[in-house]
Amino acid sequence: MIKHTYFFLFAILIAASCDNTNTGGNSNKTSKDSVMSKDVHTQSNADSIGMKHLDLDIKVDFDAKKISGRASWTIENKNNVKELKLDTYDMSIDSVFVDGQHTVFRLDSPVKYLGSALHIPIPANSHFIDIYYKTGKNAIALQWLDPQQTHDKKHPFLYTQSESIYARSWIPCPDGSGIRFTYSARVEVPKGLMALMSATNPQQLNDSSVYHFNMEIPVPAYLMALAVGDIAFKSIDERTGVYAEPGMIAKARYEFEDVGKMVSTAEQLYGPYRWGRYDVLVLPPGFPIGGMENPRLTFCTPTIIAGDRSLVNLIAHELAHSWSGNLVTNATWNDFWLNEGFTNYFERRITEAMMGKSFVDMSWAQSYEDLQVAVNELGKDNKDTWLKLDLKGRDPDDGLTDIAYEKGSNFLKLLENTVGREKMDSFLRKYFDEHAFKTITTEQFLAYLNENLIKGDTAILNKLDINAWVYGPGIPANCPHVIPERFKVADSARDHFLKGKPIAKEITSAWSTYEWLHFLRNMPKPLSFAQMNQLDNAYHFTKTGNSEIADVWFVMAVAADYTPAFPAMEQFLGSVGRRKFIEPLYSEMMKTAKGKEMAKRLYAKYKMNYHPLAQVSLDKIVLKN
Ligand code: BES
Ligand code: ZN
Repeated sequence: MIKHTYFFLFAILIAASCDNTNTGGNSNKTSKDSVMSKDVHTQSNADSIGMKHLDLDIKVDFDAKKISGRASWTIENKNNVKELKLDTYDMSIDSVFVDGQHTVFRLDSPVKYLGSALHIPIPANSHFIDIYYKTGKNAIALQWLDPQQTHDKKHPFLYTQSESIYARSWIPCPDGSGIRFTYSARVEVPKGLMALMSATNPQQLNDSSVYHFNMEIPVPAYLMALAVGDIAFKSIDERTGVYAEPGMIAKARYEFEDVGKMVSTAEQLYGPYRWGRYDVLVLPPGFPIGGMENPRLTFCTPTIIAGDRSLVNLIAHELAHSWSGNLVTNATWNDFWLNEGFTNYFERRITEAMMGKSFVDMSWAQSYEDLQVAVNELGKDNKDTWLKLDLKGRDPDDGLTDIAYEKGSNFLKLLENTVGREKMDSFLRKYFDEHAFKTITTEQFLAYLNENLIKGDTAILNKLDINAWVYGPGIPANCPHVIPERFKVADSARDHFLKGKPIAKEITSAWSTYEWLHFLRNMPKPLSFAQMNQLDNAYHFTKTGNSEIADVWFVMAVAADYTPAFPAMEQFLGSVGRRKFIEPLYSEMMKTAKGKEMAKRLYAKYKMNYHPLAQVSLDKIVLKN
């Protein structure tokens, strides 16, 4: 305890001496600050040079599976730095011009995870850097889909996923979340396809096959995004709408009916939405994650289109990032909880306002269960279970786990419980206002928290035990945890079933996804074939259109060797690329000899449908033995 208190004071002192929450350079920092907030995942020195604007002029070539063109940076080299270093990954650099002059550059050999630094000599007073480049075969941000891999199966599709450090594989850039810039772009695509970016977007196909984009608000590189395909648009209200392949657009429009209302609900909580439009793009099923908060245009998986609007909370999450993450940005990936923990808390506040307390209580309870699972998987003493991470020398993706989401959001919930909702909300609103379009480290946040909310109150400090959360492992003893009434009903239904008694229809008829997941996830594993069969006959899990339920069910089916579910499971694995679903499923198969054979067969067949990043983690699961 004493050790914790000292560490906390130390952190506050360091952070307080550092007022660099600004968008640009860190030249005012003391050396201690730099140690605490240095971004170890970029090789760029752009933080000591002002990177003002990026102008992209690129062509998307589906035959060669390449993006090629020019990235032009406008810089303001106030400190007279002699050389600009940018991040690149598996990219060929054809030529570089500085203020129109052809310039000799150097491209380093690749560093593990980080790629190759591009060195460009810059004379004093230079302003414009033009880089002509092509993406490589291993451009990890890009997924090129053949028509067969799309929903409509008629046209090819391309999308990017830049978070965390993959923007550098399609744009030579300063790829650190602490560096922001505005951008404009001209994108040439094959005839008949539409291009969209994290910027002002077209709503119609354009005959010239050339699209122009503008993002006049500075954003970090991880929010750079591009999608190209056969895409249609439907409006929801005056500032929200949905994009999807034509065969998907009607379903998507139905599912997202409440998105406009979500934006105004979020605004009522924490202040104005500052990005203009808010649209959602539904991607083909291979998209490796659930959603990505690309500014103005959330990218999302089609697996949330359940037909009954039951999984739209994912959109509330990506929308909430328009405040936590896109407006106030984690300074480095070590501070990832400032993006995701805040966003999960904010998401649940939107959900509570729209769906009521008894509903959101289930989300909080599931969060606690997810936190337990994450801590068990990582080990309760693992430093990756601290909120403040230490990812030096590592692949950032290895450390970006559920801890940031669930330990982070529960820490904020504890804060709310301790100071009261009213104070919590005015604090958060002020936090977003005062840090808008800036980056922030964990230490700066803790200093701000103390100055503006805790104000040195020792009773509150003792209740919170901040160090146990931020610089300590596992689940702190004061973690909020309530068992919602609606879960108690699901628990007794499960007990009933396990004792061989029937469950009355009225009990389950109004269950939400949360109740079903809670009911299934806490079943003993494996169930007998007869029990699986009984459940399937009663609730038709094998045929469910709800991907969250399907996924848990298929894992149970593998464990129980419940073969009637296998054809549906194979179909699921053949199209869906969302890592959260397919990784646990392959892992479960790998537990038995029969399952292993099935995993290897299915993976060989469907590997090419998965995103390069998903292939990396699945190779580790399926090919290791
Ligand atoms: N920003 C994340 C996605 C991300 C995180 C990409 C880290 C790369 C590295 C996004 O907002 C997110 O959290 N998506 C979740 C959905 C959410 C409801 C928890 C997902 O994709 O599952
Ligand atoms: Zn998120």
